[in-house]
Amino acid sequence: MKRILILTVVLLSGVYLASAQSTRYTAFEPASVWNDTDGNIINAHGGGVIFVKNKYYWFGEKRGRGASEGVNVYSSPDLLNWKFERLALATDTVNAQSDIARGCIMERPKVIYNDKTGQYVMWFHLELKGQGYKAARAGVAVSENVTGPFRFINSFRPNGHMSRDMTLFKDDNGDAYHIYSSRENYDLRISKLSDDYLFPTSKDTLLFSNHREAPAIFKHKKNYYLITSGCTGWDPNKASLHIADNLFGPWKNLGDPMIGPNSELTFGGQSTYVLPVQGKKGAFIFMADKWNPRNLIDSRYIWLPVSVNDGKVEIRWRERWDLKAMKDSK
Ligand code: GAL
Repeated sequence: MKRILILTVVLLSGVYLASAQSTRYTAFEPASVWNDTDGNIINAHGGGVIFVKNKYYWFGEKRGRGASEGVNVYSSPDLLNWKFERLALATDTVNAQSDIARGCIMERPKVIYNDKTGQYVMWFHLELKGQGYKAARAGVAVSENVTGPFRFINSFRPNGHMSRDMTLFKDDNGDAYHIYSSRENYDLRISKLSDDYLFPTSKDTLLFSNHREAPAIFKHKKNYYLITSGCTGWDPNKASLHIADNLFGPWKNLGDPMIGPNSELTFGGQSTYVLPVQGKKGAFIFMADKWNPRNLIDSRYIWLPVSVNDGKVEIRWRERWDLKAMKDSK
């Protein structure tokens, strides 16, 4: 009897814990633990989000305590409750000579859809196994399905330039671009991609030489906005915002768009992506990583609404917020 009672208590507390962990979220709580719908911590760092047929897909770095373990993908209809889909791109555990052999570093994956080839194309920052951050390459992988699995195609330095932190941007006319930190992160460059998005073209120019990284770009009306961080590794620093009406520049520095406690350190985070919210005019979410270098999997996510008012961009700290709070931009 006693045993049954104990077992029941253990089982019930298990159920309680499981249900407590797989909370149904109704609001964003920046920098808090964020679990997926199975109750596991969301493991998608340095990520980006795309929208396909009524669902958002969040791609990001799968991390162990320190290790890089490939790219995870999650899906969500509401941006709050994320279902783990799969490991979208795995490291190669068979061929030790592969560019993505286990032990390599894959960071900042971004995925865009190519309307001409019908493929989802992923670019990411790749460092070769055992070389630290020396290789400074971009890696490319493709899939016919949004959730993958993605097939690794190739890795290279775009037009011979070092390539570390990066993002992709697909413009309204379908042209796509790779924006990347180069020359030991002193330069930020942009290259237009080939029609199939698999290679950089020779249209590859310097944006500015301000020693910036973690690029996150969005377009509102006729302007492009680019948020970057300084270069202090995993430690947070001051963000900056640039504006241009042409992707190839000139880019004008508008200063730090963050507002609120700890804004001068991007609230403890580092930019990774700016996500356009579907069904709301000019509504964007700023996505940042609050890195925990002692246990990278537990790096937290800071998602905050971006307000754009007649070209003035503000990203204000909030403890808790939901999409209803988002206003259409002007
Ligand atoms: C940061 C970069 C991260 C990661 C880290 C490693 O500067 O933004 O993506 O590469 O350095 O120290």
